[in-house]
Amino acid sequence: MTAGMSVKVTDKLDKVVSRFYDLLVANPLISEFFKDPDVNALKRKQVWFFSSLLMETNQGTHDYMRQAHKGLVMKRKLTDEHFDALLECLVQALDESELTPDEAKTIVQSAEHLRDAVLYR
Ligand code: HEM
Repeated sequence: MTAGMSVKVTDKLDKVVSRFYDLLVANPLISEFFKDPDVNALKRKQVWFFSSLLMETNQGTHDYMRQAHKGLVMKRKLTDEHFDALLECLVQALDESELTPDEAKTIVQSAEHLRDAVLYR
């Protein structure tokens, strides 16, 4: 029973992740950040993005997010404006998904908690 349920949740999340990325690369405010020739870095991001959100209470995640985005803040001027645009994509992908409003809310709150870490503050 439990295994069946988690497969279902994983399946829903997979769809959210792929919709989320379609929205990101189509968003003119932030698409430039994802025109990265390092496809492997982006794939890693894709896989780890939601894991990071689900582990947001862990201090290690904050440190990891700081380091992962440091170069973007320092060299490519990643700001709140970009973070907000990413959040909008996330909210839209979640709205369109089969996750419950409560599940969606938890994920968005986790993303918000990582804002300062992502923006290297
Ligand atoms: C809560 C918000 C965010 C989370 C949880 C998150 C998560 C991640 C993760 C897990 C990685 C992979 C790090 C690695 O390869 O080890 C990553 C990399 C990356 N993130 Fe984010 N991210 C967030 C916000 C953003 C925002 C706002 C942008 C830009 C608009 C962004 C752009 C990128 C880019 C371009 C990379 C690849 C960096 C590289 O060149 O290696 N991220 N992110």
